[in-house]
Amino acid sequence: MLRMAGLVQDLDGGERMKLRIGIVGMGGIGNNHARVYKELPDTEVVAVCDIIKERADKAAAAYGAKGFYSVQEMLGSGIRLDACSMCTAGVENGGDHYRPTMELLEAGLPVLGEKPISNEVDKAVEMVDLAKKKGVAYGINLNHRFTPAAVRAKEWVTSGRLGQLHMINMRMWINNSKESSPWFHLRALHPHSIDVMRYFCGDVKSVCAFLSKGKGRTIWSNAQVLMQFENGIIGNLTGSYDAGGSFGLECCDVSGSEGRFVIEDACERLFFHSRRSIEVERYDYVGGMRSFSETFKSRISVWVRQLVERVPPDKIDASGEEALRAQRVIEAAIRSFQTRSVVDL
Ligand SMILES: NC(=O)c1ccc[n+]([C@@H]2O[C@H](COP(=O)([O-])OP(=O)(O)OC[C@H]3O[C@@H](n4cnc5c(N)ncnc54)[C@H](O)[C@@H]3O)[C@@H](O)[C@H]2O)c1
Repeated sequence: MLRMAGLVQDLDGGERMKLRIGIVGMGGIGNNHARVYKELPDTEVVAVCDIIKERADKAAAAYGAKGFYSVQEMLGSGIRLDACSMCTAGVENGGDHYRPTMELLEAGLPVLGEKPISNEVDKAVEMVDLAKKKGVAYGINLNHRFTPAAVRAKEWVTSGRLGQLHMINMRMWINNSKESSPWFHLRALHPHSIDVMRYFCGDVKSVCAFLSKGKGRTIWSNAQVLMQFENGIIGNLTGSYDAGGSFGLECCDVSGSEGRFVIEDACERLFFHSRRSIEVERYDYVGGMRSFSETFKSRISVWVRQLVERVPPDKIDASGEEALRAQRVIEAAIRSFQTRSVVDL
């Protein structure tokens, strides 16, 4: 497929330039992004950036890219970039995204940000607004929905196989012993679970949350969040940072007037239960996807394809706007818990 450095062959035989990618934040996740871009035929990693010099230098050597120690330095160098990944972390795993993302968007560059879009809704709003103002694509790595199992289940929903949707029960839990802010668990983990819930059921209207602290913990590490969606679907999110072991990662259970699907562990098992029959359909590893770790490639592939196809910014899958909506649900859950009330969005 590849003809010469920087070029990729189109299906019609023509050649076009590969997308020149910059990655900001070279921790574990930035390196994940870099490995994916290296594997994809349409992209090359030309710049890596970290305020920790050794991380930038190490990544530059590993990916054959130029290393930078700040976004301003990268932008000021005149290096040509077509898009960037934002893989910083910070407070509640999202506090550092804002400033460098604003700098990239201001420079007119499409950004694929890590989740949470921000731990502060006001800052998320600013980033989404700036991307709109600039007319550039802004996506978030809400990778849990980018599995062949979720895509197949979504087709069932869209084609009416489940009938009218009634309920969704979503569970996502991992072991994370980090003692951060009281809301770390909700803000850092549940952009993912709420995005999956929104993917199948649409916008959330009302939220009611109960939280608890696991044994020995100072943060609200367990959550039960009741939700009502705009279209009348009712649902529940079970979340925890006190899981691990053999608990598994997640389970999404959606039922309707004609049937029900269950996705276990994002991509590993998909079940269809008909309401009219005792036969159960079971699909293991749909599309050959074996584990959650592969979702980085599937999500980034969609982002790259949409950039190559010049999909309009408001049609980007798992956009900044969608991530912002998920983050608003999280803030509503926090408010609900604090005020012991149902909160409308
Ligand atoms: N999508 C997923 O499945 C998934 C899974 C885990 C983590 N994450 C997210 O990925 C992000 C990164 O996680 P991580 O574990 O790699 O974090 P990390 O702390 O190991 O790495 C972040 C890096 O960003 C650098 N950095 C901070 N501010 C910077 C700036 N202004 N310019 C350049 N570099 C800067 C830091 O020096 C650090 O090296 C987090 O937002 C986290 O929530 C996503």
